[in-house]
Amino acid sequence: MNHPCFDQPVSRRNTASIKWNKYADPDVIPMWVADMEFATEPKIIEAMTDRLQHPILGYTSAPADLKTAVINYLSDRHDWQIDGDWLVWLPGVVPGVAAACTMAGDVNDEVIVFSPIYHPLRYLPEMKNRNRVDVPLQYVNRRWTIDFDAFKEAITPRSKMLLLCSPHNPTGTMFSSEELRRVADICSDNNILLVSDEIHCDLVLHPSKTHCPTGRAASDRQNNILTLMSPSKTFNLAGANCSFAVIPDPAIRERFSSACLYTVPIVPTLSYTAAQAAYQHGWEWHQALIDYLRGNLATLRAAVDDMPLLSMDDIESTYLGWINTSRIPVEDAHDFFLKAGVGLSPGAQFGDANFQRLNFACCREQLNQGIEKIAKAVNSVT
Ligand SMILES: Cc1ncc(COP(=O)(O)O)c(C=O)c1O
Repeated sequence: MNHPCFDQPVSRRNTASIKWNKYADPDVIPMWVADMEFATEPKIIEAMTDRLQHPILGYTSAPADLKTAVINYLSDRHDWQIDGDWLVWLPGVVPGVAAACTMAGDVNDEVIVFSPIYHPLRYLPEMKNRNRVDVPLQYVNRRWTIDFDAFKEAITPRSKMLLLCSPHNPTGTMFSSEELRRVADICSDNNILLVSDEIHCDLVLHPSKTHCPTGRAASDRQNNILTLMSPSKTFNLAGANCSFAVIPDPAIRERFSSACLYTVPIVPTLSYTAAQAAYQHGWEWHQALIDYLRGNLATLRAAVDDMPLLSMDDIESTYLGWINTSRIPVEDAHDFFLKAGVGLSPGAQFGDANFQRLNFACCREQLNQGIEKIAKAVNSVT
């Protein structure tokens, strides 16, 4: 198979990596921000190198072949038929969420999220002068899922938008098509725009589940759904970001495009190139990635199960372990693990201080080193 060996460590020191530059102490293993420690598919790098044979990197629009690649990707991989006119190109999903928040009614209107949730989705509503309303996920059968009664109770005349994260970061939940259908129905019936962040949709680790786009789960409600997607998690292209929104309704598309105008930059030329090559040539690499991540998840699962002070719920998707550290007798678990040499994402950032999030998208050797440090620290207080 023509893909780099995922077991091969790739040093990112001196690449100005945000993940690696965070800690001055070289003994700290960074396992926080959601990019991966794997070299991307070589054909993507090749396509970007080829593009650089032309020396001008001026303002660029989405190539027609990229549009076709995205339409085919959504049809082949997610059984979702879309029209090319529904696409709006973005330099990132987060700027798309920010623009969408400005469309949520007026100042002080409400944006609902299922919490805990990826921190930009948590903070952007208030940064855009909207009130965030948290509807906590509920824990059922080792799975964090939607509390529909609480969701319905949270709705007021001021509720204008739901920011859904599907699959869900940080709990790794994959919502079923029935759950998504119910969410979409409740939103439509209450005039709430449904914004569905599906950036993790290609990172399915559950052996028998498949991702269902919200727009497919509720195809007759599609005109009320704005979906955000990207190849950046799928192919480890966060620094060459080319994301897109899928917006079937022309009026919502127009409002969204206006919200982006002059504030959201256009997509960089090389990012379009990377996205096109990824969707056209990346799927064999991607299958190897998923196999490797499943192995990493099993390694992490076994290690956590061996530490009675920790627990981890089923991670159905994403490469992010959501680990309950509340039984460790320390004041600040994030700081405790950092001192032990592992840089995790503090759960408080997502809205639940009982947890730490661990990024396991790294070579097995590094994962085992991180696990060893965690185990040593936990054993020291057991
Ligand atoms: C749910 C979710 N949305 C968006 C992003 C980031 O999107 P982008 O880098 O395209 O702005 C992340 C990154 O971790 C994420 O987990």
